[in-house]
Amino acid sequence: MNLEISIHNAKILIVDDEPINIRILQKALHRENYQCIDTTTDPREVDALYRKNFYDLVLLDIQMPYLDGFSVMKQLKTIDAQRKTYSPVLVLTAQTDRETRLKALQQGAKDFLTKPFDMTEALHRIYNLLEVKLLHNQAYHQNKILEQKVRHRTDALNQTRLEIIHRLGRAAEYRDNETGLHIIRMSRYSQLLGLKIGMIHEESETLLHASPMHDLGKIGIPDSILLKPGKLTKEEFDIMKQHPVIGSDILSGSNHELLSMAKTIALTHHERWDGSGYPHGIKGEAIPLHGRIVAICDVFDALTSERPYKKAWSVSETIDFMKQQSQKHFDPTLLRNFMDILPEILKIKTKYAEPHSSSPLLERY
Ligand code: C2E
Ligand code: SIN
Ligand code: SIN
Ligand code: SIN
Ligand code: FE
Ligand code: FE
Repeated sequence: MNLEISIHNAKILIVDDEPINIRILQKALHRENYQCIDTTTDPREVDALYRKNFYDLVLLDIQMPYLDGFSVMKQLKTIDAQRKTYSPVLVLTAQTDRETRLKALQQGAKDFLTKPFDMTEALHRIYNLLEVKLLHNQAYHQNKILEQKVRHRTDALNQTRLEIIHRLGRAAEYRDNETGLHIIRMSRYSQLLGLKIGMIHEESETLLHASPMHDLGKIGIPDSILLKPGKLTKEEFDIMKQHPVIGSDILSGSNHELLSMAKTIALTHHERWDGSGYPHGIKGEAIPLHGRIVAICDVFDALTSERPYKKAWSVSETIDFMKQQSQKHFDPTLLRNFMDILPEILKIKTKYAEPHSSSPLLERY
């Protein structure tokens, strides 16, 4: 942008109760090619004019009827504060006393001219003030553009990060759950249960995105065990039981909230309330809350789903079994809350139901 051109397109407001003063200034400014000049002889009109327009400079008389220049400056300051911008004020005054000059500067005038003024000097001062103001406008505008760019970039990065994490969850489930619907269901159940117990929205969202990685460690379990159509032997199950630690190792070392929650969930989703779970056999509230939530939601979905090694259980069989497991496998308070939201859980289950009842994996064996 050419500054010379912009300066002559700047919006200027002249306020003076003497029409003759306005005419002289306006004429001089026109001669200098200033294009956009508003004027008023009534200081009471300034507030409305100033609100409607973004002036680059205000030429303001001090001694006026109804409202003096100081009161006008106060009004402008209020508007500036609301808009978070400012228009420089150049005070025009017949009073030469030190007190008036100081007061004008204290009230925020950028400069002042004592009447009668030397028009050449006045034009120089006007030009200088406009130059500063327009450079300020440019910087302000560029900052806005930069802020917007940063915001877009941040949104895109967050989106990409979530997508990668989502795909990691899919990768984890891919071998024993090709559709990926298990992690969609169990993560939504988990979010809902979190909200039910009073979790703030943001934490519940993190839970939604972290819980799909609970079984990431199954990546380290051989097909012969993971996809075995029948019951696992003790040795096979001992290997299977390593998946929480494998997953937690893969996810460890990040201080990113989402990944650290995912790590905790991976490590603790097979712990049990009574301490009979794995890998560490911790009990009760020593098991992190997010792990206890996922334990309930994961088992509910595992039981009501078909697996390479089992048929799907009915909802009522699943509920009966899980209630028996209250205080054994599951946190009793969380389980009660889960049962309270069962109607909503079942809506999610229906919405994300597997497309057909027989698993394609079963057909391979
Ligand atoms: P998964 O299939 O995702 O199951 C998660 C959890 O749901 C299980 O953790 C268990 O608590 C519960 N669950 C799933 N199916 C049944 C069931 O038929 N009966 C009962 N009572 N609970 C069930 P768990 O037991 O620690 O197993 C962890 C993972 O080990 C399972 O994840 C699955 O991948 C594998 N697994 C467990 N048992 C067998 C099995 O008999 N055969 C095969 N091939 N894999 C198994
Ligand atoms: C999405 O694709 O739904 C966002 C990623 C995620 O849910 O983790
Ligand atoms: C994907 O994000 O890769 C697909 C989402 C899904 O089907 O779960
Ligand atoms: C998830 O898998 O991250 C939750 C399900 C979804 O966002 O579609
Ligand atoms: Fe697991
Ligand atoms: Fe699972």
